[in-house]
Amino acid sequence: MAHLLVTGAAGFIGSHTCDQLLAAGHTVTGLDNFRSGRHENLAAAGRSPCFTLHEVDVTATGALDRVISAARPDAIIHLAALVSVQESMTDPALNFALNVQATHLVAEAARSHGIRRVVFASSAAIYGDTTDLPIREATDKKPISPYGAAKLASEALLLGHGAAFGCTVRCQRYFNVFGPRQDPASPYSGVISIFDRRYRAGKAVTIYGDGSQTRDFISVHDVARANLIAATRPDVRSGAANICTGRATSLLEVVAVFRQQYPEVAAPTHAAPRTGDIIHSRGAPDDAAAALGFRAAVSAEDGLRELIRTG
Ligand code: UD1
Repeated sequence: MAHLLVTGAAGFIGSHTCDQLLAAGHTVTGLDNFRSGRHENLAAAGRSPCFTLHEVDVTATGALDRVISAARPDAIIHLAALVSVQESMTDPALNFALNVQATHLVAEAARSHGIRRVVFASSAAIYGDTTDLPIREATDKKPISPYGAAKLASEALLLGHGAAFGCTVRCQRYFNVFGPRQDPASPYSGVISIFDRRYRAGKAVTIYGDGSQTRDFISVHDVARANLIAATRPDVRSGAANICTGRATSLLEVVAVFRQQYPEVAAPTHAAPRTGDIIHSRGAPDDAAAALGFRAAVSAEDGLRELIRTG
């Protein structure tokens, strides 16, 4: 059994990752500044004797050193981030601090403490608006937001450190993650979390465009499992892989599942497509299968039904 340090432990992906690590018998030290993380996300983890939480910012002077010296983890799963693409546009400096500098600090902490593995939350945003589908890892990386650029720079920082100082680095390029605990607070939150909140409140949703746009929606449970494998499987080598399903689901298909569950809620309204919106996005899952033995197991429909049932 391993001891994992999880940054961003109280976040959407972080909390599910902690839950799965603990369920598998590992020890977890969590770290979160609670900027976007929430205490209630850690309700289950907090009941485990194998879980310790530190309420600190990764970028605070000496914070990582202190936590790592005390915990002596085998690996770091670095999920702490400025998670909103939109916020990276309005505050690029904050994006740089939380999404680039923070990663450098993690890389340095891994080096100075001799930590042998780092798993990093990268994103399909590094590919920009490519129309060449499915998106493969070798596809040109042309980010179109400070957020995407920061994720791409972070991959390079970590992989360079890993190669120089003998640490295995896995960069996980998440596609459109959905599931329980995703914050629906802003109009730029993930579309499924927004739809879920509106249907629960009995309100009609708005579809930007005709709803035929598709995304590679992956359940947070699959993403957490991919993190667990990347952090703990013995024979893993450094690299980057898409964490996706390889399947495209349209917004109309998403809405159809909600409408079955909420027949009383009014039909969706349509508004003009969002500026800069891409029509289709779908990843190729083969590299993750080869490098990690990971394949998504939850279909978009099953994941949606679980979200609707449990919230
Ligand atoms: C993601 C980012 C977005 C960024 C874009 C470009 C998130 C949550 N979103 O968007 O900030 O600009 O990549 O790389 O990280 N939609 C509706 N109704 C709604 C909300 C959304 O119809 O109420 C539509 C959107 O217009 C889009 C689709 O749903 O066509 C998916 O939206 P979203 O969940 O934001 O994902 P991306 O479009 O991939």
